[in-house]
Amino acid sequence: MPPIGFMFRRPHRQEVLDGRAVAKQILDDIATKVGARVAAGKPRPKLATVIVGDNPASALYVRSKQRDARQVGIDSEDHRLPTETSTEQLVELIAVLNRDESVSGILVQQPLPNQIDLVQAVIAVDPIKDVDGFHPFNAGLVAQGLPGGVQPCTPTGIIELLERGGVRIEGANAVVVGRSNIVGKPTALLLIKRNATVTICHTKTTNLAAHTREADILVAAAGRPNLISKDMVKPGAAVVDVSANRIDGGQVGDLGPGVEEVAGWLTPNPGGVGPMTRAMLVRNTYEAEIRRRP
Ligand code: GUN
Repeated sequence: MPPIGFMFRRPHRQEVLDGRAVAKQILDDIATKVGARVAAGKPRPKLATVIVGDNPASALYVRSKQRDARQVGIDSEDHRLPTETSTEQLVELIAVLNRDESVSGILVQQPLPNQIDLVQAVIAVDPIKDVDGFHPFNAGLVAQGLPGGVQPCTPTGIIELLERGGVRIEGANAVVVGRSNIVGKPTALLLIKRNATVTICHTKTTNLAAHTREADILVAAAGRPNLISKDMVKPGAAVVDVSANRIDGGQVGDLGPGVEEVAGWLTPNPGGVGPMTRAMLVRNTYEAEIRRRP
């Protein structure tokens, strides 16, 4: 006879937040819209990508972004600059792309080499072509919860995954682990906008587990394999595993073994946030074109 608690415990149910499937829906929708525009004689949108140096991960990410763009009928244009490029040289290339009528969106892949002034590079991109949403004009609108700016790709992808997966954000305790300008901070801002109560944790947080155990929504974006162990997750929580840590030629996130046994919703990794980031970039590129040339 099993213990009585066992008999009444409900079986663990878990929803997979399938980024590949949701991204496909979004890309299919954009493909239809791009097709209609081109059929009406309008120019095809175009994404210009810039990589400085020869970081293999950056090359891989940018190739995937271009592939997704092409899949929906958006052209792409690839710019490679040598590792020793100066800030002025990068800013000059960005200025050329800003002036180029045929370019809808500009993506300068990060990280950039150390000698490059990141702020100068980020503010050089015309905010209307800033498909990453990194320019302070766009980031400022997001920070203030105001409409009209470009939404940052990974944070917006996370929100779309949660909402389409049936996770209630309003009133939830959300904990974001990681405070980068690309993921952690803007994700926290988008969650606040949707009325979650948000805590941002980071490498200097004391007693991380005490925070994560209270999380109805846990966004792991620290870039540290096994940082979030099973006992740090509230049973039934929605867990979003953002990081793409490269280990032994494969990709792992920040979650330790067994998190899937307690999470109520979980993003696969790979196949969760990554495809959503790219879908949001493609959507931003399409929207940048519409805004500039309705
Ligand atoms: N590096 C890591 N993620 C991103 C991103 O979303 N955009 C750019 N430009 N660089 C990145």
